[in-house]
Amino acid sequence: MSSSSSTTYSLPLATTFVLLMLYVSNAQLNTTFYSSTCPNVTTIVRSVVQQALQSDSRIGASLIRLHFHDCFVNGCDASILLDKGGSIQLSEKDAAPNTNSTRGFDVVDNIKTAVENSCPAVVSCADILALAAEASVSLSGGISWNVLLGRRDSLTANQAGANTSIPSPVEGLANITSKFSALGLNTNDLVALSGAHTFGRAQCRTFSNRLYNFTGTGNPDPTLNSSYLTTLQQTCPQNGSGTALANLDPTTPDSFDNNYFSNLQNNQGLLQSDQELFSTTGAATVSIVNSFSSNQSAFFQSFAQSMINMGNISPLVGSNGEIRLDCKKVNGG
Ligand code: HEM
Ligand SMILES: *[C@@H]1O[C@H](CO)[C@@H](O)[C@H](O)[C@H]1NC(C)=O
Ligand SMILES: *[C@@H]1O[C@H](CO)[C@@H](O)[C@H](O)[C@H]1NC(C)=O
Ligand SMILES: *[C@@H]1O[C@H](CO)[C@@H](O)[C@H](O)[C@H]1NC(C)=O
Ligand SMILES: *[C@@H]1O[C@H](CO)[C@@H](O)[C@H](O)[C@H]1NC(C)=O
Ligand SMILES: *[C@@H]1O[C@H](CO)[C@@H](O)[C@H](O)[C@H]1NC(C)=O
Ligand SMILES: *[C@@H]1O[C@H](CO)[C@@H](O)[C@H](O)[C@H]1NC(C)=O
Ligand SMILES: *[C@@H]1O[C@H](CO)[C@@H](O)[C@H](O)[C@H]1NC(C)=O
Ligand SMILES: *[C@@H]1O[C@H](CO)[C@@H](O)[C@H](O)[C@H]1NC(C)=O
Ligand SMILES: *[C@@H]1O[C@H](CO)[C@@H](O)[C@H](O)[C@H]1NC(C)=O
Repeated sequence: MSSSSSTTYSLPLATTFVLLMLYVSNAQLNTTFYSSTCPNVTTIVRSVVQQALQSDSRIGASLIRLHFHDCFVNGCDASILLDKGGSIQLSEKDAAPNTNSTRGFDVVDNIKTAVENSCPAVVSCADILALAAEASVSLSGGISWNVLLGRRDSLTANQAGANTSIPSPVEGLANITSKFSALGLNTNDLVALSGAHTFGRAQCRTFSNRLYNFTGTGNPDPTLNSSYLTTLQQTCPQNGSGTALANLDPTTPDSFDNNYFSNLQNNQGLLQSDQELFSTTGAATVSIVNSFSSNQSAFFQSFAQSMINMGNISPLVGSNGEIRLDCKKVNGG
């Protein structure tokens, strides 16, 4: 073998090796992480979520949103669950997108208690959020998927990060797209994950800018379906407190299905950020909305993959972070 051919092959081989190592070091989560230490963890989480749904039809929606708001701030590390106190001076719970809005923390604590009873000190709160999100979707009529596991829990919270990284409902599509893109999520992920607004509720204050005086025009948002506008104005009177609730999906409020996308086609997206996916002229999101609206299994498959993509955002693995014993506090804190 000539030295020139050996040079020709050694570079690609070295590159392949480096890429393989990068792949291995990024792919640290797997579906069997607890197979010997807590084999029943998925069933335990599912059964507590199922129990909670009996008395609160909204809880699945609230739980998946906790995973989203966790992953978008310092990665999926349960930082959202930490209460203010001890070393935590500024909690994510008190950040603008979460305060008086995120809910389900008591159910997370119930799940943690049930898991600790079976397998003490091995399952992270970050993995519990990922498992609860999957249980919430599948128990509400949506798709089921194998959740990647092995995340560990943070020692810190990042309130400033929560204020800036989580998208706002009154932001333009370009801003929201760039917040997703900063975390490695593309336009397909944005549209698929927005489909989580097929269940759950929103407070009037999150969309009332559209109902009476949109962007200072003196008129409602012209994209709002007029009969839907009338309904929403009744739910949200002009000088109301802003805390009344509307269904994110007016057609099937508690089911995980693809009606969210036909709602957008009917100009019945509740949040400005929802309707923009369909009503922004020329946007790449429009054809994806149309495809998910016409094919529920295409939506479900994309949704499951995008949940895995979101769940892979910067997890703490190996010996980083810790396995919290109480999801609300760092150990010993
Ligand atoms: C694309 C950008 C997004 C924006 C601007 C946004 C904004 C919002 C807002 C303003 C609410 C209502 C909160 C309240 O009134 O208290 C809400 C609720 C909700 N969001 Fe999003 N969201 C986005 C993406 C997502 C994603 C990616 C998921 C999950 C994969 C998600 C899941 C939910 C769920 C299920 C609810 C209802 C929660 C409940 O009823 O407790 N959202 N969202
Ligand atoms: C899953 O990940 C853990 C931690 O990285 C590792 O110990 C285990 O061998 C992995 N399991 C499989 C099947 O890859
Ligand atoms: C797993 O957990 C479920 C729900 O708590 C329970 O019904 C089932 O018996 C458990 N299975 C095992 C093998 O522990
Ligand atoms: C949260 O709700 C409470 C009770 O309704 C209210 O007193 C407080 O001002 C609200 N906080 C924010 C930041 O909206
Ligand atoms: C986050 O936003 C809230 C509400 O606007 C504000 O009170 C708080 O000071 C902000 N926190 C940080 C760390 O920027
Ligand atoms: C969108 O992003 C631009 C540039 O970062 C910023 O100036 C603007 O305030 C953002 N718009 C909204 C509604 O947040
Ligand atoms: C709508 O908002 C603009 C800007 O805030 C304000 O100047 C105008 O008076 C408002 N119009 C009505 C009808 O309230
Ligand atoms: C809302 O409050 C404003 C000022 O406080 C007042 O001018 C307006 O008439 C009120 N609108 C309704 C529908 O009560
Ligand atoms: C408004 O919504 C209804 C369904 O409630 C739909 O039949 C109609 O086509 C929608 N109108 C527009 C302009 O999207
Ligand atoms: C719907 O989407 C699924 C999954 O992507 C695909 O296999 C199927 O062919 C699509 N069906 C139609 C009618 O396009």
